[in-house]
Amino acid sequence: MHDYSNTTALVTGASKGLGEAYAHELARRGANLVLVARSAGALHTLAERIQAAHHVSVHVIAADLSDRRSPQAVVDELKRLGLEVDLLVNNAGLGAVGPFLSRPLEPNLQSVEVNVAALMGLVHLVGAGMLERGRGGIINVASTAAFQPMPYQASYAATKAFVLSFTEALTEELRGTGLRVMAAHPGATDTGFFSGTTASMDPKADTPASVAANTLDDFARGRSVSYPGRACNRAATWASRLLPRGTVAGITGGLNRRAGFQDVSDVSSATS
Ligand SMILES: NC(=O)c1ccc[n+]([C@@H]2O[C@H](COP(=O)([O-])OP(=O)(O)OC[C@H]3O[C@@H](n4cnc5c(N)ncnc54)[C@H](OP(=O)(O)O)[C@@H]3O)[C@@H](O)[C@H]2O)c1
Repeated sequence: MHDYSNTTALVTGASKGLGEAYAHELARRGANLVLVARSAGALHTLAERIQAAHHVSVHVIAADLSDRRSPQAVVDELKRLGLEVDLLVNNAGLGAVGPFLSRPLEPNLQSVEVNVAALMGLVHLVGAGMLERGRGGIINVASTAAFQPMPYQASYAATKAFVLSFTEALTEELRGTGLRVMAAHPGATDTGFFSGTTASMDPKADTPASVAANTLDDFARGRSVSYPGRACNRAATWASRLLPRGTVAGITGGLNRRAGFQDVSDVSSATS
């Protein structure tokens, strides 16, 4: 797929942040859209803005991807709307931050449901239609966090390690089928990823717009992996592949302590 125009792209987590940027950039390149997230209001507002700016159609499917039944519900809704997806952008994701044992368990479990189970479910269900048609593309948004253990973001990095391994294996399985899958590994990107907590984003973070554009350029070039952020992000993934994993965990733990992640609390409890 070298041309996005007149294709249909489904973007999960499109209500804000990086997903919203993927939606804008895909529409700018001529793709029709299906926008998925929980926040129906934000998705409808975005759909209106995109349709006012571009000659593309936009559908909204509100879904809570932490619900194991949601991938099937999304696919049922696509069928009801008579839509075939050419490009699936599995972008929805979240991550708990802070010391694992002293922070609530629930956000960690939610991240497994959304980042892992829903991503896998959508690849399976939407991918089945692509396989039947002998064409299609899938972009799984992982992270540079996928390449190493990350103390104080332990479960988040583990979910992204799953996305990395899963996508690499599928890339090989799907060779010759007409389907293409790519893992995208953004580094720190200026979104509300940490909102609701006292953690703050790296001030040098990339913009969502540049990350989205670079990801789509890489996919159009036929790449199976994309590092859409600053060059140093990619270099850091090589360091973590070369050093012993215990050493790497020590380094990432140190960096996250320097960012104050060992003392993170929720904003409501921090201000009460
Ligand atoms: N920001 C970074 O530094 C960074 C770096 C590397 C990778 N990433 C990855 O990029 C992706 C997007 O993150 P972001 O930074 O844009 O975060 P964000 O601004 O917090 O946006 C997250 C998106 O995921 C959706 N989402 C969360 N829980 C959901 C659920 N249960 N069901 C359906 N949708 C859900 C949210 O929509 P609703 O709340 O409306 O449901 C929202 O649209 C994630 O996979 C993240 O891991 C981010």
